[in-house]
Amino acid sequence: MAETVSAGAQAPSAHRAQSSRADFTIEQNWGAYSAEEHAVWSTLFHRQQSVLRGRACAEFLAGVRELGVVADAIPDFQKLDGVLRQATGWSIVAVPGLVPDAVFFEHLANRRFPATCFIRRRDQLDYLQEPDVFHDIFGHVPMLMNPVFADYMQAYGQGGLKARGLGALDHLARLYWYTVEFGLIATSEGLRIYGSGIVSSKGESVYCLESSRPNRLGFDLMRVMRTRYRIDDFQTTYFVIRDFDELFKATRPDFTPYYATLSGLSPLDPETILPEDRVLHRGKPI
Ligand code: PHE
Ligand code: FE
Repeated sequence: MAETVSAGAQAPSAHRAQSSRADFTIEQNWGAYSAEEHAVWSTLFHRQQSVLRGRACAEFLAGVRELGVVADAIPDFQKLDGVLRQATGWSIVAVPGLVPDAVFFEHLANRRFPATCFIRRRDQLDYLQEPDVFHDIFGHVPMLMNPVFADYMQAYGQGGLKARGLGALDHLARLYWYTVEFGLIATSEGLRIYGSGIVSSKGESVYCLESSRPNRLGFDLMRVMRTRYRIDDFQTTYFVIRDFDELFKATRPDFTPYYATLSGLSPLDPETILPEDRVLHRGKPI
């Protein structure tokens, strides 16, 4: 998916074993995590808990609480699965890492979230170019406790299967990137984070809200699907939604004609600002 990047050298681990199944799922093998792996989770969890107070949106924080993910240990997917199913009908399946687009979309379209099992090493606390269990479980799953967001993710999976057939994955991937991974939301209390790529990063959780460097632009579907993104550094532009209904409504129509329009437009660099943009903050170089 959007996060496709080459992985750094990793110690071989039971949690990165390749799947022999067509849907790429594996067993989480919870009993095989070492004390050090649980400790890395614990460190990451504590850091984000304190940084996200007053920065993450209420829906995310409520999701963390209601799911019952805690600092003690890497969660057992089976236990979370029960809570999540009850709340929104989503389930969690374990995978060794990134899976092919079609497989990823098929899982989402069926309300299954593919979660990576392995955890980063202690020397990678701040930065990892691929999803691990902390990003996937702490970053993504809490939002799936929210009914509107849960429906959005399923619709995205269905839309992905269609976009593949239309050769429009680049456009759709940008939408995922700027919403699911790096989305901000304007609340009555101020700007808040809902993007999973941000909530699982200590540095970006502060930067995305408090730095004067990045642009913060009002969400516009076509604009987002034209905008390239960077995978190697903090974002230089964030798109801000007003509420999750706005996102859900904007993405409800059939995208087929949108893709036709987009194929005639050149992609925009992430730093570009257009005259028609709703600029909440214009980035200043630092
Ligand atoms: N409605 C979109 C389509 O027809 C599917 C979609 C829904 C895409 C939600 C993204 C998010 O392709
Ligand atoms: Fe992700």
